[in-house]
Amino acid sequence: MDTVQHIFKGTFIHSTTRCDCEVIENHILGVDHAGKILFFEDARKQSKLAQKWGFDESSIQELGKNEFFMPGMIDTHIHAPQYSFIGTGMERPLLEWLEHTTFPIEDTFSDVDIARNMYSAVVKRTLRNGTTTACYFATIHTDASIVLADAASQYGQRAFIGKVCMDRNDTYQKYSETTEESIRETKRFVDVLKKKKYDRVKAIITPRFAISCSERLLNELGKFAEEQNLHIQSHISESPAEIKEVLRLFPDYKNYTEVYDRNKLLTNKTVMAHGCYLTNEELHVFRERGAAISHCPNSNISLCSGHLDVRNALNHRVKVGFGTDVAGGYSVSLLDAIRKAIETSKILFMERSKWDNNKTENEVKGSMTPKGINRDAQNDKMEKNNVLSYKEAFRLATLGGSEALSIDHIIGNFEVGKEFDALLINPDAKDSPFEVFSHIPKEEMLQKFLILGDDRNIKAVYVAGRCTVPFSSNT
Ligand code: GUN
Ligand code: ZN
Repeated sequence: MDTVQHIFKGTFIHSTTRCDCEVIENHILGVDHAGKILFFEDARKQSKLAQKWGFDESSIQELGKNEFFMPGMIDTHIHAPQYSFIGTGMERPLLEWLEHTTFPIEDTFSDVDIARNMYSAVVKRTLRNGTTTACYFATIHTDASIVLADAASQYGQRAFIGKVCMDRNDTYQKYSETTEESIRETKRFVDVLKKKKYDRVKAIITPRFAISCSERLLNELGKFAEEQNLHIQSHISESPAEIKEVLRLFPDYKNYTEVYDRNKLLTNKTVMAHGCYLTNEELHVFRERGAAISHCPNSNISLCSGHLDVRNALNHRVKVGFGTDVAGGYSVSLLDAIRKAIETSKILFMERSKWDNNKTENEVKGSMTPKGINRDAQNDKMEKNNVLSYKEAFRLATLGGSEALSIDHIIGNFEVGKEFDALLINPDAKDSPFEVFSHIPKEEMLQKFLILGDDRNIKAVYVAGRCTVPFSSNT
């Protein structure tokens, strides 16, 4: 056991670059003391592996009958302070919601005690729900943002932490900074986090969105991110009113994407939330720069912002991960993001089918009478990859998220050499919200968990080999 920290035996389900959902049964996976996957091999080689890696076969942790491991889920967009009002206040559209609900509450995070309570709660809640990596927005307050970084590190969550930058806030002026402050405090924030030398918590440059930033601030942040080779996050093309305002504030730019791109904020370490209204031309720029979209379907629906056509983004070979966008989105769980992404994709498919059917009808009969749905054609189309499948959604919640954050060389699946970020799933948990009636294929077990399961089915959460959930008494 000198070189090996954990040895697990059983079923593992993950995505690879070639396969959205690979089920690997009767395998043994070893994790070293640095939290990396040391070996992952057929269990028939158990004795040989024990000899090679010097462990005792009695130290193998064997999974229960229906249990399996899947990679930890990755939330590519979440607002930690907004956890305080999750599930409430979603009656207004985006810009009004920001003004009346969000900004006044975020403003209270100037008090680090408020931040400390809220941030340990959100880190624990997300971890328990299987979020092993979170890309957080904090607030404009540097010290409170450092508290969030401390909380993620303490509980063992892998995280990117953004001190929010906004030097323009016409709707709620109290909650803003000067340009100089924003730049200086961002540099201080990055510096403090570097000096803390956390293992898996990093700073991310965070202009809130184009509306709340001057051109100079965007420009300085872009230059700083380039100098320091830092990750970047923001929002883009979330709602029609927002886009209109961006074009009004930045009349010299041809579209929203160009506002970020010309200021060096669109790189292969950038993740932009929403992107519901990006044109094909803009998606092409995303692809060229290697920038990613965080698909936040719950928030898109809850704030009536719009829908992302995830198929079109994927067809443009843009990297896509999922975001809960708490608290525009009302769920902390990426399982919810998986479900809402599939449902959004089905809604878009139905909208298109309706249009196609009417068009055919008009062309054939020259009439406006609605025509019955052509079932064969519909099945055919759904299968021709128009609708996001549960396997694809599984991929986006895990490997896709790691690609979106450009950390797929570190996590995302169970490849040897990657860090072991994993969820131990028990479909037969005592209070499970679903039943497994008979022997069903493991793929169906995964599907049931993704569509029906919740944190009660998540028996353990590992980040880089550390068991973070159940919480230990000293965290
Ligand atoms: N755009 C700018 N800020 C925000 C925010 O906090 N939430 C969402 N959903 N969109 C934003
Ligand atoms: Zn957001």
